[in-house]
Amino acid sequence: MPTSHKDTNLRTAAVIPAAGRGVRLGPGAPKALRTLGGVPILVHAVRAMARVRAVQVLVVVAPPEGAAEVRALLDAHGLPESTDIRVVPGGDSRQESVRLGLAALPDDVDVVLVHDAARPLVPVETVEGVVEAVRAGAPAVVPGLPLADTVKSVDPASHTVTGTPQRALLRAVQTPQGFDRATLAKAHATVTEDVTDDASMVEQLGVPVLVVPGHEEAFKVTRPLDLVLAEAVLARRRATDGY
Ligand code: CTP
Ligand code: MG
Repeated sequence: MPTSHKDTNLRTAAVIPAAGRGVRLGPGAPKALRTLGGVPILVHAVRAMARVRAVQVLVVVAPPEGAAEVRALLDAHGLPESTDIRVVPGGDSRQESVRLGLAALPDDVDVVLVHDAARPLVPVETVEGVVEAVRAGAPAVVPGLPLADTVKSVDPASHTVTGTPQRALLRAVQTPQGFDRATLAKAHATVTEDVTDDASMVEQLGVPVLVVPGHEEAFKVTRPLDLVLAEAVLARRRATDGY
């Protein structure tokens, strides 16, 4: 019988890029180290991934000079012993940080999730949906949501609209994005253009990318108002499910 990643004991890992400064959030500590409900955003994101049974290995990509601090922070927050958590220093771009995280994966990992530390409140079901789709054979999977706003393309020099893509054909994509490890490794080894997510690198290889349902609570903490929203979501969870 041919072996495929569906019927072996290979493991699923999550790379969590957390090396960004968070310029759009305004002055302060690196975004992943800012707190929500008194707990660093990164710790929320690591817990969210560690809560998923299928995910057995985590690689946290820390700010370039902050790996020791991040290691200490994670140890101080008592994360589950059953998850193998590694910390590596990141790079100047998200892409570089993910590449450095991939380099720290153990050999027996065949499915890789890449999850922004800046999406601390992703629900377990969203992560599970991505893992299941990769395990079922999709080489690349992204969680996506329909857009609320109409989107225009513009000429940035003249501030003139150049087009309006049909909204029904657009999706806002989130993380975790899930991949067959070899596919993601090949994408990172061959694509050099600037990209803002991992799936777009895989798209450039001509590999199909499957969209599964995203979740509103998987939003990325990017601007100051997102912190207000995240605090509200967390407060509601703590009130309703003893989170
Ligand atoms: N990231 C990273 N290494 C970088 C840049 C970004 O690991 N050199 C990570 C961020 O820490 C974040 C994720 O990539 O978890 C998504 O990036 P983004 O939301 O853009 O975060 P920042 O780059 O930190 O924010 P900004 O662009 O506002 O500076
Ligand atoms: Mg950024």
